[in-house]
Amino acid sequence: MLEVCNIDTFYGKIQALWGVSLRIDEAEIVALVGANGAGKTTLLNTISGLLCPASGSATFLDKRIDGLTPHYIAELGISHIPEGRRLFPVMSVRENLEMGAYTYHAWKRKEETLEEVYRVFPLLKEREGQLARTLSGGEQQMLAMGRGLMSRPRLCMFDEPSSGLAPRLVLEVFKVIKTLREQGITILLIEQNVKRTLEIADRAYVLENGRIVSEGKSSELLQNNHIKKAYLGL
Ligand SMILES: Nc1ncnc2c1ncn2[C@@H]1O[C@H](COP(=O)(O)OP(=O)(O)O)[C@@H](O)[C@H]1O
Ligand SMILES: [Mg+2]
Repeated sequence: MLEVCNIDTFYGKIQALWGVSLRIDEAEIVALVGANGAGKTTLLNTISGLLCPASGSATFLDKRIDGLTPHYIAELGISHIPEGRRLFPVMSVRENLEMGAYTYHAWKRKEETLEEVYRVFPLLKEREGQLARTLSGGEQQMLAMGRGLMSRPRLCMFDEPSSGLAPRLVLEVFKVIKTLREQGITILLIEQNVKRTLEIADRAYVLENGRIVSEGKSSELLQNNHIKKAYLGL
C-alpha cells in the first residue's frame, strides 16, 4: 500500500532522515519505534507531505506522493493524527470533526462518516457542542483520532496517541486502533509504549538517529536482545 524508498529529509542544512525505507501492506498495523529525536515525527511529516524529502521516493497505492501537497495526499487516503493532537481549541467537538472531512470525497459523505465516528467514540457525540480546549486530555485524543477518520482514510498514521494519558485511557487508545484495523484501515503507529505497541503490531521498524536499524515481525523484535535492552528495559 505504501512504499517509502531511500528517503533523505533535511531541516535546512541538518539531515534528519538518512536513506529511510519502509513498506506497509494493506490491513497491516506497522509500528515505528525509536527514542526521542530519532526522526519518527519527521518521517510521518515526510509521508504526509508537510516536509519534502531531498531524495528518495514515497509511493501510495501505486502513485508517487513525495513532493505532493499535504491536502492532496490526504485526498488520496492518508490521514495523519499528529503528535500533540493539534486540535482547533476554540471550535466545538463537532466543528473539529467536520474540519477532518475537508477533502473532496469525504465532504460529500460527512454526515454518514460523523455517525460512524460517533459509534467508535460515543463520548464525542455527548460532547458535540463543547469547545475542544475544555475537553480532558483523553477526550482530546479521541477527538484527534475521530477528526483523522473523517477524511475516510485508507491509511492512518498515529504519532504518539497515548502520550500523557492515564493508563486506563492508554488501553482505550490501543483498543480503538485494533477496532480500526478490524474495519479495514491500515495503520502506521508511533508509540512510546514499545512493548504494548509490538504486541498489537504485525511488523515494526526501529529508527535510531534518522536511520532504520532493524525491522521485522513484531514477535521477533520482542525477542531481539538489542530491542529488549534499549526499549523494553529488560
Ligand atoms: N522543525 C525542526 N527544525 C530543525 N530540526 C528539527 C525540527 N523538527 C525536528 N528536528 C530535529 O530532527 C530530529 C528528529 O526529530 P523528530 O522527528 O521530532 O524525532 P522523534 O519524533 O523521533 O522524537 C531531531 O534531532 C530534532 O531535533
Ligand atoms: Mg515525535
